[in-house]
Amino acid sequence: MPTTEQNAPIDVPRGLKGVIVTDTSIGDVRGLQGFYHYREYSAVELAESRGFEDVWHLMFHGALPDAAERAAFTARTAALRHLPADVADALPAIARASALSGPLAGLRTALSLTGASAGFRPLYDLTPDRRRADALAACAVVPTLLTALHRLAQGLEPVEPRHDLPYAANYLYMLTGEEPEPVRARAVERYLISTVDHGFNASTFTARVIASTGADLAACLVGAIGALSGPLHGGAPSRALDTLDAIGTPDRIDGWLREHIGAGERIMGFGHPVYRTEDPRSRMLKGIAQSFGGDLVDFAVRVEERAEALLAELKPGRELHINVEFFAGVVMELCGLPREMFTPTFAAARVVGWSANILEQAEDSKIIRPSARYVGPPPPVPVPAA
Ligand SMILES: CC(C)(COP(=O)(O)OP(=O)(O)OC[C@H]1O[C@@H](n2cnc3c(N)ncnc32)[C@H](O)[C@@H]1OP(=O)(O)O)[C@@H](O)C(=O)NCCC(=O)NCCS
Repeated sequence: MPTTEQNAPIDVPRGLKGVIVTDTSIGDVRGLQGFYHYREYSAVELAESRGFEDVWHLMFHGALPDAAERAAFTARTAALRHLPADVADALPAIARASALSGPLAGLRTALSLTGASAGFRPLYDLTPDRRRADALAACAVVPTLLTALHRLAQGLEPVEPRHDLPYAANYLYMLTGEEPEPVRARAVERYLISTVDHGFNASTFTARVIASTGADLAACLVGAIGALSGPLHGGAPSRALDTLDAIGTPDRIDGWLREHIGAGERIMGFGHPVYRTEDPRSRMLKGIAQSFGGDLVDFAVRVEERAEALLAELKPGRELHINVEFFAGVVMELCGLPREMFTPTFAAARVVGWSANILEQAEDSKIIRPSARYVGPPPPVPVPAA
């Protein structure tokens, strides 16, 4: 029996910063070194040398596939891209109803419906193989749902997935109805790989909290999407690009940044809960942006330099550096993705990381259930008569 003392609440830092809550073999982030990894591999190296399906296989099975495994995995996941008929039928109404909030809000509803329609059952009741099959089905269908929701909201017909295209190219194809240029498909694929997973971020933690209750896989993913949508997490890339628009011209950079940092506002695309150095994803994405070149890229590089310098001057000691979102927005813009699809595109990658985490969490029977310190009026106060 634990003693009363062992049960006494323990204070942890605000926001659980730095608190280790579980063991994982999925990956980690080293904030001081500017390094992160999936399993035992550098995530940036994976993004530079592998395809999305290889990394998906790595996250789900713990190892990179050999040629035969790659072919089988690619064929299996491509076949899962189609929507069940009842979900496809419901999408126009979901797209209409979520027109003001956008495709990520629509995805919450559509993915929930997909899970219910596929008969997802509580993870608690399923074998590891069955859980993985549900996770494969959910991940495979997310790009189809997102692109269909986007097109329907534009008054366009959804585009059926193609089996012969890899994940990223098929995503762009379903978005535009045209086969993407290889260089753009590869740029988006590298972005997607680089955002598959990133330690115990807010949405991953959310997914794992829900998984720890034994709920079904769609329930876990829908919660994670909600957490990702916030501007302090995944909702920043379009805002980073909006910032470039608001600044407008090079002569306004310093004035705009000083005014907004001085007013206590946060500059989107800068700062990170873990990195105290440049975000390694940002370095890679900046390289991709610079390989495309152009006025937007030159302007973004200038804003980055000045924002780094002014944040150091006006917020000394905080170590605020560029994060993934700043150049992610630029790369997606250069690849022809509409701004409202930036965070949804992030979700189309992160769904794989969430799912790997959910599968790992489902192996642990302990429910995640912390405590809070009550600071309201002292109880018990007699309930007033009605
Ligand atoms: C990512 C983020 C939420 C991390 O937050 P965090 O770990 O809680 O960092 P803190 O809020 O402790 O930041 C420390 C200080 O830097 C400031 N700060 C953090 N990010 C800042 C930014 N982007 N611009 C200006 N100031 C910033 C905070 O206001 C705080 O200032 P204070 O000490 O005077 O109160 C935060 O940096 C942010 O809001 N960035 C902008 C949004 C963004 O790019 N999100 C995508 C994340 S990948």
